[in-house]
Amino acid sequence: MTKKILVATEKPFAKEATELMKAALKDGYEMTFLEKYTSVDEFKAAVKDVDALIIRSDKATKEIMDAAKNLKIIVRAGAGFDNIDLPEATAHGLVAMNTPGQNSNAVAELAIGMMIMIARNNYNGKSGTEIHGKKLGIYGYGNVGRLIGKYAMGFGMEVIAYDPYLTKEVIEATGAKQCTDLDELFGTCHYVSLHCPANDETKNSINMSKMGKMPKGATLVNTARKEVVCEESLKKMLAERPDFKYVADVAPDCAAELKEKYSDRVFFTPKKLGAQTEEANINAGVAAVKQIMDFFETGNKKFQVNK
Ligand code: 3PG
Repeated sequence: MTKKILVATEKPFAKEATELMKAALKDGYEMTFLEKYTSVDEFKAAVKDVDALIIRSDKATKEIMDAAKNLKIIVRAGAGFDNIDLPEATAHGLVAMNTPGQNSNAVAELAIGMMIMIARNNYNGKSGTEIHGKKLGIYGYGNVGRLIGKYAMGFGMEVIAYDPYLTKEVIEATGAKQCTDLDELFGTCHYVSLHCPANDETKNSINMSKMGKMPKGATLVNTARKEVVCEESLKKMLAERPDFKYVADVAPDCAAELKEKYSDRVFFTPKKLGAQTEEANINAGVAAVKQIMDFFETGNKKFQVNK
């Protein structure tokens, strides 16, 4: 029986990626696309009889899983899977996967680009600073963090990396220095770039006790999730420290207020853009299709995240 794959993307993949995803399909599979949908009901109707689901930041909730009677596998084409209700996926007997590393370069390039832009005051005409010679602290040294470290070293930055799940050897093999002390990370770096997942432990964890330690002229870079930064602390920090800057993909809830008050010290992408390149969409989208076919044909669950 033909296996049905639904690609449900409120923020669609680039056209080139969808073409290559279709081209990657073997006989015995068919693929449909639900793009730019505006209601959960549309999503529920589209998922009704499919065997596999590919999503981006789309929310895979209990409601969606209840509606998808034939569903066996959900693949988040990307890194973060905080948009999948993992306990519900397990309760529904579903395998949930991500496609780690596939869109990392796009996010790393965005983070470096935002650092340079804010160093020049959002190109507002005023004299700025350079990132060369500055110290960068990377909070979470996974696929994105490591690429940012590599590119930052190319710009002549000093790079230190904090990641409690990695050994000194693994970190230092990349040329970065291991940092085990958050006071050192936030207290000595001109730039701190966040690369942790959003979970109960990390939500609102970047607060005044960390930001407040950042040195004069420091910038906090957030291409992780908006929820990891405490917005009250952010507002306080920007108000009390006229030297402090914040750039993020994606905007905090208080973005309008911050942009009005501090136009040359904050920058927010208009929607989540980190992985929004043709290349990243091709890599993550095609990987998702291949992982699904491999799962059905060989039972491969290498990238399962609800274990
Ligand atoms: C990810 O976790 O992979 C990124 O945040 C990209 O998310 P997106 O696919 O919604 O752009």
